[in-house]
Amino acid sequence: MDEAMPSNATGKVYLVGAGPGDPELLTVKAQNLLERADVVLHDDLVTPAILSLAGPQAKVVNVGKRCGAEGITQAQINARMIDSARRGLQVVRLKSGDPAIFGRLAEELDALEAVGVPFEVIPGITAGIAAAASLGASLTDRRKSSRVVIVTGHRAHANGVQKTLDWQALARADATFIIYMPGHDFGGLRSELLASGLPGEIPAAIVSRATTPDQRQQVTTLGELDKLPRMESPSILLIGWSLDRASQGSSAGDRSLTVDEVELLLSSI
Ligand SMILES: C[S@@+](CC[C@H](N)C(=O)[O-])C[C@H]1O[C@@H](n2cnc3c(N)ncnc32)[C@H](O)[C@@H]1O
Repeated sequence: MDEAMPSNATGKVYLVGAGPGDPELLTVKAQNLLERADVVLHDDLVTPAILSLAGPQAKVVNVGKRCGAEGITQAQINARMIDSARRGLQVVRLKSGDPAIFGRLAEELDALEAVGVPFEVIPGITAGIAAAASLGASLTDRRKSSRVVIVTGHRAHANGVQKTLDWQALARADATFIIYMPGHDFGGLRSELLASGLPGEIPAAIVSRATTPDQRQQVTTLGELDKLPRMESPSILLIGWSLDRASQGSSAGDRSLTVDEVELLLSSI
């Protein structure tokens, strides 16, 4: 199907966060834009339930590098956004989670700005925040976690040189780590964090397909991280003392009660 004809003369690109998967976690603004969009250019991880919210006039294109458009370059994605906007179309560039977290947002904004195409960024709920919520855990806790460190486990390449994270500098017991794209082999990460002085008892959790009907999670400790079973992608790894109330249940409502909560319940009977 061809892209819709322009609805007005001025096109615009909306870089929209689709959230972690559950359509009910989409912002109202994102939903309204999806309903009105002429073109929706989305990444692989955006769920079908969210894409189904696009209006019937919209041309919906997967420009994801894994499933949708294998081999597509960032420059080609940029060109597609720019071309559609210049034809007067309302373009929703839909990214999983929040567009500003490991979403190549900066590169796309640079490209739009360079040619004077108007744009707007609409935030979304990022996977790490959603994963913590689904575990019934808080990422900060003024009694033990005063910072949140968002990193990627995916080793970036700059000019062909592999960059590794400086865990010695990052590892602090009062931090909660959210590790995007953690891969499946946690042996190296475990060794680096233990060597940086973090105790093996620090809680850790991996959440696969957070907020979707296929969500699975495993709660463990840093010391046992290398024994975690392989989880389906996408998955995210959380490490920190604030996760000590994370449960194996599928949502906050399913988690087992703490000793304090059991006592409170018994005292109210
Ligand atoms: C390219 S990054 C995009 C992150 C996204 N912009 C966000 O804010 O969530 C992709 C990584 O995000 C994480 N991720 C995204 N959606 C997820 C989900 N529903 N459950 C668990 N992890 C998810 C995984 O670590 C995945 O490898």
